[in-house]
Amino acid sequence: MKLCIIGSGYVGLVTGACFAEVGHQVICVDNDQRKVDMLIAGEIPIYEPLLEGMVHKNVGAKRLSFTNSVEKGVDESEVIFIAVPTPPQPDGSVDLSYIEQAAREIAVVLKDYRVIVDKSTVPVKTGEKVAATIRRYNRAGAAFDVVSNPEFLREGCAVGDLMNPDRIVIGSSNEQATALMKKIYEPFMAPILVTDISSAELIKHAANSFLALKISYINMVSRICEASGADIENVADGIGADKRIGRNFLNAGIGYGGSCFPKDIAAFIAISEHLGEPFELLKEVQRINRTQCDRFIAKIREALWVLKDKKIAIWGLTFKPDTDDVRSSVAIDIVNQLVAEGAIVRAYDPKGMEKSQQMGLVPGVGFASSPLDAVQDAEALVIATEWKEFSNIGFQELKALMHTPLIFDGRNLLDPLVARQFGFTYYSIGRA
Ligand code: UDX
Repeated sequence: MKLCIIGSGYVGLVTGACFAEVGHQVICVDNDQRKVDMLIAGEIPIYEPLLEGMVHKNVGAKRLSFTNSVEKGVDESEVIFIAVPTPPQPDGSVDLSYIEQAAREIAVVLKDYRVIVDKSTVPVKTGEKVAATIRRYNRAGAAFDVVSNPEFLREGCAVGDLMNPDRIVIGSSNEQATALMKKIYEPFMAPILVTDISSAELIKHAANSFLALKISYINMVSRICEASGADIENVADGIGADKRIGRNFLNAGIGYGGSCFPKDIAAFIAISEHLGEPFELLKEVQRINRTQCDRFIAKIREALWVLKDKKIAIWGLTFKPDTDDVRSSVAIDIVNQLVAEGAIVRAYDPKGMEKSQQMGLVPGVGFASSPLDAVQDAEALVIATEWKEFSNIGFQELKALMHTPLIFDGRNLLDPLVARQFGFTYYSIGRA
């Protein structure tokens, strides 16, 4: 099928590449000419495992192309996906100006029937607004349908998530549009759930909020473990073995970050308030998440007493492993707090250092060339992101390089028993 994706960010680019991979003809549109030029030149603006190869392969096969022209995309496609940013506003509500702009741009060039699909995460009822906007700005009076098709991919495993989804949600009120959507997703062989548009829009916010709730729940249980001497890993295994609960998203740590959870939970709270049904439970989820990081820093402060002039090594800057995304990363918050208290911080991250530097997120921090380089002469090591390569580093080597064998493991990445056997003082989350 001929498809157009408006917005070549995380969701747009990965979706475009995966649609091309299963044989569709895909045009990705972006209004950032620099990004379009990069993509045409074969450069991928984000780090995401498997994406680069997939983009190159499908560009080579002439199934995937890039342009800045919405008109070209709309003219040459049967279905138009909107995958533009929906950033948060200061009060937590969603800024829908990019969605509105995309709807207007489509309306201006729309001549014949098209299905317009909203893939961005948007508040319930946005579909109605998109349809009204297109109707208002489309002078040709062309027929169209609006569909909601939320995306559930995770950064770091986005290609896998998109190629093998748990489910595909199609919110549609028109049979012709539903049939076209089913055809697009046929090659993915995943369960398809067809709903009304509002339900589809709600599913995304409700799903992300539930996952965040699971994380805050286990983080709160980790505090009770610390207070009682129980072990959070055992407790999480025991809870997670119940199929109704599941072990996923029960990893205690320094809290959730990234460009989705904090924003989507705030948005869902704002939506619930707007609808007159304030979701107080989610405010507690936010509070636990915020204080989880504060508590971790308090542990460091307590052990080191005075942070001023202490040499601290940081492993991890990204909001989770296997990504270069440092937006709303709890690791970055920790680094900045340590620096604010006068610590001398040297950080290492396999993929996140360039973006941290470019975006000026960690002023005053030194960057190391390897995990071992970061710990040279350090008085403490803080593990803030659970990159796999960190768990393969030998304690012996670590101890030889550090000034003091002290580890604060914010992701429960290392084995406490082994760390202590090698003479480390070791702190983690929810376990002795
Ligand atoms: C999330 C959703 O999972 C995805 O479905 C949606 O489309 C976008 O938002 P993402 O933000 O890429 O995806 O990452 P995810 O793997 O969900 O992790 C989010 C945050 O939660 C990370 O900071 C991670 O470290 C944290 N987390 C996750 C925990 O602290 N504990 C866990 O058990 C799981």
